[in-house]
Amino acid sequence: TSSWERYNKLTMEPSKEYLFTHKGFYFAANITTPEYLDSLETFEIRDSDVFIATYPKSGTVWTQNILSLIFHEGHRNGTENIDLMDRIPWLEYNTKHMDYSAFPSPRLFATHLPLICLRLVFFFFLQVIYVTRNPKDVLVSYFHFSKIMVTLEKVSDFNIFMERFLAGKGKVSFLSWLDHVTGWHSHAEDFNILFLTYEEMKKDLRSAVLKICNFVGKTLSEKEVESVVRQATFENMRKDPRANYENLSEFLREKKPGYFLRKGTTGDWKNMMTVAQSERVDEVLKEKMKNLPIKFIWDIN
Ligand code: A3P
Repeated sequence: TSSWERYNKLTMEPSKEYLFTHKGFYFAANITTPEYLDSLETFEIRDSDVFIATYPKSGTVWTQNILSLIFHEGHRNGTENIDLMDRIPWLEYNTKHMDYSAFPSPRLFATHLPLICLRLVFFFFLQVIYVTRNPKDVLVSYFHFSKIMVTLEKVSDFNIFMERFLAGKGKVSFLSWLDHVTGWHSHAEDFNILFLTYEEMKKDLRSAVLKICNFVGKTLSEKEVESVVRQATFENMRKDPRANYENLSEFLREKKPGYFLRKGTTGDWKNMMTVAQSERVDEVLKEKMKNLPIKFIWDIN
C-alpha cells in the first residue's frame, strides 16, 4: 500500500466525542446542540445586522476586534470593559444563552457556518465580512489550536490532521476549507459581502480598517482610525484581556499565553510543513482553487 493509503486508513473518522453531525455537517459537540441549530431556522435578522463569516483560524477574532472597535466607542476609548465575545457573539455557539433578539441595533455577529447551512434569504439583507487566509497557514494554526482547546480532538500527528483537513466533509469542522470558501465566494454577486484576506490585513491594517468602515457605513475621525489600528495590532491584542479571548479558560486544556493569538504571521506553514506535505496540499487544492470566482492576492505558496 502507498503511504497515502496508509494515512487514509488512519484518518477515517474523527472522534464522536468532539463532533456531531447535523443535516450532513459536523459541529463541535460541547458548544452547540442540534436543537439550537434548528432554532436558527427562524432566527429573526435585521437589515442592520453585520456578520463576520470565516472558516476557523482565518482571522476571526482579529476581525471581531476591529469591528467592535469601529462600532463601540466605549471599547475604543477603554471606558467599557466588555468581552469581545459579548460584543460580537457567535451565531451558532450561544454558550452564554444570550437573548440575541434583545440586542440593540446594529447587532454584530460572528459565524463559522458554511453558507449552505443558512437560509439564503437570510443574507439578502445583511452585511457580511468574509475573511479568507492561506489554507496552509489555516491548517498549521488549526493544528496548534486543536492541541489547546478541550472542544477539539487533540491529534498529535500532523500528517493525520492534514489529511482530515483536506478530506471532504467535516473531518475537522463543518466541511472542508475549500467547500467553505467556495460556498461563500460563489455568492459574491448575490449578497452584500466584503471579502478580505488575512494577508491583506497583515500587509496594510489601516487600509483594511478603512475598507470595513466604508462597508458598514461608519465614518471615524483620523484619530479614531489610528486608535482602531493601534488596538488591533497583534502585539496589542495579545495583551488585551478584552480582545484575546483568554476568558474562555473553561475551554482550554492548560493555561498558558497565546491560545487564540499564537504567532499572527503569514507563511508560518513553512516552519511546520515538509516539502512533501506542502506538495500534498497543492495537489489537493491548487487546481480546484483556480475555479474560485475571485483571485486571492496571495499565491498558494
Ligand atoms: P496563528 O495561529 O497563525 O498565530 P481565528 O480568530 O479565526 O481563530 O484565527 C486565529 C489566527 O489569527 C491565529 O493565527 C492568531 O494568532 C491570528 N490573529 C489573531 N489576531 C491577530 C492580529 N491582531 N494580527 C495578526 N494575526 C492575528
